[in-house]
Amino acid sequence: MSFVLEKVTAREILDSRGNPTIEIEAFTSDDQMARASVPSGASTGSREAVERRDGDKKRFGGKGVRDAVNSVNTEICGAVKGTDVREQRQLDNLLLALDGTENKSRLGANAILGVSLAAARLAAQNTRQSLWRYLGGLQANLLPVPCMNIINGGVHARGQGADFQEFMIAPHGAPTLAEAVRQGNEVYQALRLLLLEKNLSTAVGDEGGFAPSVSSNREPLEFIVHAIEKAGYRPGEDISICIDPASSEFYRDGRYHLHSEGSALSAQEMTDYYAGLMDDFPIVLLEDGLAEDDWAGWKYLYQQLGSRAELVGDDLFVTNVKYIRRGIEEELASAALIKLNQIGTLSETLDAVALCHQYGWGTFMSHRSGETTDTFIADLTVALRAGHLKTGAPCRGERVEKYNQLMRIEQSLGNNAHYAGFQTFVHRG
Ligand code: PGA
Ligand code: ZN
Repeated sequence: MSFVLEKVTAREILDSRGNPTIEIEAFTSDDQMARASVPSGASTGSREAVERRDGDKKRFGGKGVRDAVNSVNTEICGAVKGTDVREQRQLDNLLLALDGTENKSRLGANAILGVSLAAARLAAQNTRQSLWRYLGGLQANLLPVPCMNIINGGVHARGQGADFQEFMIAPHGAPTLAEAVRQGNEVYQALRLLLLEKNLSTAVGDEGGFAPSVSSNREPLEFIVHAIEKAGYRPGEDISICIDPASSEFYRDGRYHLHSEGSALSAQEMTDYYAGLMDDFPIVLLEDGLAEDDWAGWKYLYQQLGSRAELVGDDLFVTNVKYIRRGIEEELASAALIKLNQIGTLSETLDAVALCHQYGWGTFMSHRSGETTDTFIADLTVALRAGHLKTGAPCRGERVEKYNQLMRIEQSLGNNAHYAGFQTFVHRG
């Protein structure tokens, strides 16, 4: 079996939103092949690594990735040929040096990440190991709490629903991941019936959750608590709620604009608003409660609510050790969202997770709203013992494929599998 990278090739494929994205195939010198594809966000952080798009309005409205594909097929292929696919850091550093920019804008983080992931998968394949075992070794036996996004708002519902982008359920009381997936799905189905009863739309948003039009951000929470009960579970005991308002999207001129409620709140008022929600609903995780530039607001938010829920920075940290370190030093949050394509290589993602764990921070693994059926993040979550992940509703192929992969991993671990459960949510203050 060879570990010498012979060739990488790329093509343009479509993602779940129907936009083009990049798919990479990596080959070793004995003609073994592994494939990886790259997702794409809609509510992206401004400090994320750059996703390179053609901008040629005549193709895909400018969203084509042909230039990134060409870079992989020519420049990147020439540079990585001959590297050992097991030497992930060496490969990733080579890609970083080749790109030469701080934010990967020259070659594109999409091109770079696809090569990084395909090489890792090829290494796993040629060492005859599953990806999760190759990446995580013997410590890879912790199955995450699946945080399922069952009501979509914000830009994922094209502004038709709640201001808050994501309302997720976390079946942390289940004995296993497979049981958690079942419970989550039962709540999802119960919610569908509840919405139908109220003559609300059951059409789904980008991540597979329902996107009903509502007149407040409390209403989805009320529906969810009701659905949990209707499915036969105890809110807060068996199943809790996680929210990602993605508040950078409604932050303007120092205020948080809640259109559905006709209010414009300061960071302190917004924090009070969340405290009120936590009084009334079993919320165990709040992601991007405040905006990516509101560092002072985050400090206040963490002081007030850090002991009540895990406070996760997504747009604030963009999976970048530079910003996570600042967050740790200034005590701004208790966890980082982890998205491979926010930073653009596997090695840098591993560094972000390691830094978080070193300081007792949580790591919340995440898909993007524009996804492919690639299941890399499922394996990575188990490998890194991240304890929880979000990859959409228990509905739509590109979402369920990740949950299905986790069930496969759990089954192959057998009695050695351990389900993360409630303690995965970091509460401090
Ligand atoms: P995105 O949203 O993938 O559309 O950027 C996900 C998130 O905000 O967590
Ligand atoms: Zn987010």
